[in-house]
Amino acid sequence: MKAGGQVGSNPFEPDPIVAVVTDRPNPARMYDYYLGGSHNLQVDRDAADAAERAWPGIGFGAQANRAFLHRATGFLAAAGIDQFLDLGSGIPTVGNVHEIAQQVNPAARVVYVDAEPVAYHASKALLADVPNADIVHADLRDIDRVLGDPLVADMLATGRPVGLMMVAVLHFVPDDDDPARLVSDYLAAMPAGSCLTLSHGTPPWLLPAREHDDPETANEQYQRSTNPVYFRTVEQIAPFFAGVELVEPGLVHVLDWRPDDRINPNWKHDRIAIHAGVGRKTN
Ligand SMILES: C[S@@+](CC[C@H](N)C(=O)[O-])C[C@H]1O[C@@H](n2cnc3c(N)ncnc32)[C@H](O)[C@@H]1O
Repeated sequence: MKAGGQVGSNPFEPDPIVAVVTDRPNPARMYDYYLGGSHNLQVDRDAADAAERAWPGIGFGAQANRAFLHRATGFLAAAGIDQFLDLGSGIPTVGNVHEIAQQVNPAARVVYVDAEPVAYHASKALLADVPNADIVHADLRDIDRVLGDPLVADMLATGRPVGLMMVAVLHFVPDDDDPARLVSDYLAAMPAGSCLTLSHGTPPWLLPAREHDDPETANEQYQRSTNPVYFRTVEQIAPFFAGVELVEPGLVHVLDWRPDDRINPNWKHDRIAIHAGVGRKTN
C-alpha cells in the first residue's frame, strides 16, 4: 500500500484519521450530500438539512464552490499546469480535478490529499484504474508527511510548476495552526510558476439576513461536527495569498471568479459566503 500503508501502520498507535466518525456530522460528508453524492450518513444529512433550513442557500454555496474548483482547474490546465496537489480534496464526485485536467492534458498528474477516511477510501477506489492520479491519506497540517510522501515527492522532483489547490479547506484550520504559514510552506516547496487556488468561507452573518434566517443555527451544525469551521473575513483571507501574484479578477466572491455559463442562476451573492482566488508564484 502506498500512502494508506502509513496510516495506522502501528496497531498500538491508532491514527485518529482512520476511524469513520458516525455519531457526529462530518463536513466532508455534508458537502457530498449538498453536491448530490451518496457518501453520507443520516447524521450528515440531518445536519445539512438543518443548516439549509436555517440558512437557505448553504447547499448552493457548496455547488458554487465546486464550480469554482472546476473553472480554476480548467484555467490552470489551459495555462500549461500539468501537475496538481489537491489538499482537502473531498469525497470524489462529478468533475474531480484529474477529470478536468486530463481533459485538457491526458498526461496531467494529480495527487489528492484528504484526512477524512470516507474521502480517502472513496477516492482510492475511484482512482484504482486511473493513470496519473492517486490519493494520500494525511492531515494537510502535517506538511512533512505530505511533502515526504513518495507521490508528492515525485511530483516535486520534476521541477515543474504545481497547481496547489486549497479549495474550501483552510476554514477547517484554526488560527493556532497558522494557516498562512502552511500555505507559504507548501508554496516554498514548489518552483516559480506554481499556482495557488484557494477558496474560503466568510462569516455568513455578515451577509444581509432575510426574515427567518438563522445563521446561528446553521453555524451550530458545523461547530458540533467533527471539523468545526473557522470563518474568516476577506481581510483575513487575503494574507493567504502573500507570496503569489493574484491573477485577474483577484480575490473575489466565488461567483465572480471568471464566471462562465455553468453558473446556476439560483446561486445568489447574498446567500453564499465564500471568497476565492488564484495566484501565481513568480519567484
Ligand atoms: C468542503 S470539502 C472541499 C472539497 C474540495 N476541495 C472542493 O472544494 O470541492 C473539505 C475537505 O477538506 C478535508 N479536510 C479538512 N481538514 C483537513 C485537514 N486538516 N487535512 C486534510 N484534509 C482536510 C475534509 O475532509 C473535506 O474532504
